[in-house]
This record gives sequence, C-alpha cells and structure tokens, in this order.
Amino acid sequence: MLSKTYCYGLKGIEGFPVTVEVNISKGDYKLELVGLPDVAVKESIERIRSAIINSFLRFPLNHITINLAPADKKKEGPAFDLPIALSLLASSSQISIEKLQNFVILGELSLSGDVRKITGLLPILISALKEGFNKFIIPKENEIEASFISGIEVYSVKNLKQAVDFINGEENLEPIQCRSYQNLLSTPISTAYDFKNIKGQRSAKRALEIAAAGGHNVLMIGPPGTGKTLLAKSFASILPEMTFNEALEVTKIHSVAGELDLKQGIIVNRPVRTPHHSATLPSLTGGGSNAKPGEISLAHNGVLFLDELPEYERKTLETLRQPLEDGTITVARSKQTVTYPANFILIASMNPCPCGYYGSKIKQCSCTPTQIHKYLNKLSGPLMDRIDLHVEVDNITYDEITADTTAETSAEIRKRVNFARNIQRNRFKSSSQHCNSEMNPVQTKKFCKLDASSELIIKQAFENLSLSARAYDKILKVARTIADLEGEEIIKTSHLAEALQYRGLDQKYWK
Ligand SMILES: Nc1ncnc2c1ncn2[C@@H]1O[C@H](COP(=O)(O)OP(=O)(O)OP(=O)(O)O)[C@@H](O)[C@H]1O
Ligand SMILES: [Mg+2]
Repeated sequence: MLSKTYCYGLKGIEGFPVTVEVNISKGDYKLELVGLPDVAVKESIERIRSAIINSFLRFPLNHITINLAPADKKKEGPAFDLPIALSLLASSSQISIEKLQNFVILGELSLSGDVRKITGLLPILISALKEGFNKFIIPKENEIEASFISGIEVYSVKNLKQAVDFINGEENLEPIQCRSYQNLLSTPISTAYDFKNIKGQRSAKRALEIAAAGGHNVLMIGPPGTGKTLLAKSFASILPEMTFNEALEVTKIHSVAGELDLKQGIIVNRPVRTPHHSATLPSLTGGGSNAKPGEISLAHNGVLFLDELPEYERKTLETLRQPLEDGTITVARSKQTVTYPANFILIASMNPCPCGYYGSKIKQCSCTPTQIHKYLNKLSGPLMDRIDLHVEVDNITYDEITADTTAETSAEIRKRVNFARNIQRNRFKSSSQHCNSEMNPVQTKKFCKLDASSELIIKQAFENLSLSARAYDKILKVARTIADLEGEEIIKTSHLAEALQYRGLDQKYWK
C-alpha cells in the first residue's frame, strides 16, 4: 500500500518541501531508500525500526520502498525519522493514510520511540507557511520556537506513540498557543557592563552611540588599559530593540546552527559574537561538511567584536570585506553554495603599535618606525575604508578616574538610540533596509541631501583627506545618523563636521 506525507529539508536558512512516500508490497523483507538521502537519513532506518518496535507497533516485514522527493535535492539530518516512521505505519494499515497527508511532520526518533528536537525548525515553518502548508507535527522540545509564528496549526508530540494516537483520533492534542514577541521586549537587557561605569572617554562613547543608532562600524585605537575592551563589552547595553522581523532573521540563523535556547524560542537581544583571533576561517565564515553558519552570520543584526584586531590573520580579516559590503556571506560546499545573512556592526579595537604607546600623551613609544608601519599595515586599506567611525581612546586623567560623579547610564543612551532607530524604521518602511548604514546609493542620494556650505566642507575634506568614494558615502550616512539622533530632518553642517572627524585617524596613523 502507498502512503504519503510531507517533511522539510534545509538549504542554508531556507526550507524546501520533501514528500515522503512509502510503498509496501508483498514479498520477502527488503528495504530501499531512494531520493538522495545523506548518511544520517540512511541511518534513520535502524532508529525507526527500533522506535516502532519499542512503541509496541509493528514494523512491516515486506518489500518496502521509501522515496524522498524531489530526488535532486540532498536530504540531510535526522528530521525525516518521524515522517518516515508514520508513513511506514500508514502503509502497513496501522494509521490513517488520509489523515497523515494533512501534515508536515518533523522530528528525530530515539531508539525507545521518543521524539527528539531538531535544528532549523523556525526557518522551516516560515518557508512552509509561504508554500501554503498550515498543519504541523513537531517535537515537544521545539514547541516554544514554533509558538511565535501565527497563522499555522502546530501540534507537538513527545513520542511516536503519541503521534500515532493523535493521527488516529485516540488522543486529543491542542494546537500550541501563539506567543507575543512584544511582551518579551519589556524585559531589560541583561548585561554586566554599563556605560555608567566607564569614566571619561566621551568621544569613544559618542562614537559607539552613533554606531548603535545607525548600524555603523567602529575602530577604537589607543594605548593599553584605556578602556577599549570595556567600551566594546558595554556596547551591547545600548543597542536598539530588534523588531519582530529582525528577531526572526536572527533566530533562523541560530536555529540552523543549533545554537538556539529552546526554552526561550526566539532571540530578543541583538547577538554579540566575540571570536578569538585564533579562530579558524570556517568557524568565522561558516562552512564545514554541513555548511553551518559561522560567527559572522551568528552576529547578524548584532555585533561582531574583534579585540586586538592586528592579531587576526590578514587572510581572516580580508574575508570580512565581502560581508562588510553586502551583508551576506557565501559558503561553498560540495556541489552547492549556501548564502547566509551577515549584516553586523563591526566593533574592533587595537593598540597603535607593538608596545602600545605610539601617539600616547603619557608614555614614550619604544617601537621603530618600521615596526609601527608593519603593525598598522596588518589592516589593509580596503578594510579600513569599510569602517565608518575611527576613534582614538586615550588615557584618562587622574581626576577623571577618581571623580565621584557617575556617567550617563546605558539605559539613558539606549533611549536616544531607539529614538533614532525609529526614525530610520519609518524612513525604510517600504524597503528591506533596517538602518542608515545599509542605504543603497539611490537612498543615500535621497536621504542625505547637503546644503551649499556642507557641500563645500565635504569637498575640501574629500581632497585633503584623499577620501574614496566609499568613504564619502559612509560619511554622509554617519552624518544622517547624527542628524537622526537630534531628530533633525536636514543634515546640518555641524552633523557633517562631526561625521568627518571620525575619519581623521587615517591621517595620523595610516598616512
Ligand atoms: N575609562 C575607564 N573607566 C573605568 N575603568 C576603566 C577605564 N579604562 C580602563 N578601566 C579599567 O581597566 C581595565 C582594563 O581596561 P580595558 O581592558 O578595557 O583596556 P584596553 O584599552 O582594552 O587595553 P588593551 O589595549 O591592553 O587591551 C578595565 O577592566 C577597567 O577595570
Ligand atoms: Mg583590550
């Protein structure tokens, strides 16, 4: 007898439908699995057999053919266990063939028949919803992850027997309740680091506020112990709230990577990733045999913090050029390529030379000019050009360290950042951009108009600082963000002058 049900496979963060067909015909026991299954899917037969027997159901001992269609797409992972098992039971008249066809079924089976969690459920549900599927049977452990999607009927099961009883109408299951994302936003960001604990460093704090507001990249350069790492660690506390769509984008990637906290189900706070300089290239960019997303994709809509930037291999840093430009990374793997989103704010910090004191006001640098040159040139021109805000973090004074007054709290700064982001959301409501740094050339032209005096200033700067066309664009976008922080519709000369100031370090260090 022939039965059919539906499951989903994954390519990157997009799901594709898979029809699971099982035919059982008379004859001695023989089992064929066709339709480009990978090793994990092939191994599933042993798990399925054991799970069926241990659930006190009958494993058919005839000629079984299992087909996973379409045949030209590789089927990976163990999520096919449950639909194959249920289809086998339908083909051997143990459950209703008609009812089974109504569902998309996903789940790994244990030998005892328990249904185990799968990775990538959220992207699968979103893709399936677009294709018109609306009834799902999923593992109990994944139920919170599924609960933020409305307009679908999702049933979660603990084990194979429960799925069988549900389909046969012997056990009544309620579809899982939809949860509200907005309710989660009221929880304050939990971080041990707050800007109120950072003394002095007003210009670095200001640069980070602009970066958070408009999604711009920052390089902090300065002597040891001035608070660069501390500032970067505190950055998460001023990041703007994520919209539901941004949260879904982030959660999809973390779900595929198997990094999602299933008790929370959706990621509410922007991710902050801090890969060490010894991290391998595939761990940063993604890849490996199953092309999982890497650190830069896990940082999507959040922050990639690279501390001690020159310590990273040049090859690693150069790999960041494409994602910094396009907001995506393409991971090549055998026979196919997968593209993941990788739109992050880069926060980088470094000393200006090997001893750390080049340009310092308080201590003499002991490096030779060649050493300094070599150190600074670990960062290529194209990479520097992609960093919008260059800021010097110098030593603070004794009075600043010992001052009793506490600085502004992160919560206060975050209010301004959220205010500026809301203006941007309005600006880009009919396009795919989230913030100023993502503007395309047409949008930059439209939203970053300058008056005559500002044009003169930027013209002079362009010639004096030998700016590239990209740097020119980036200055306009930063100026737009500074104006947004003030709630100004027009970019004024003061906004532009401040934006230009964050490009001055090229002249001091990389001249
Ligand atoms: N501006 C500051 N306000 C308060 N504490 C500070 C400040 N700067 C540094 N500190 C203290 O010094 C410690 C070291 O600072 P941090 O690690 O941020 O320095 P750094 O600039 O990253 O140095 P390095 O270049 O050596 O990495 C911090 O953990 C903090 O305790
Ligand atoms: Mg540091």
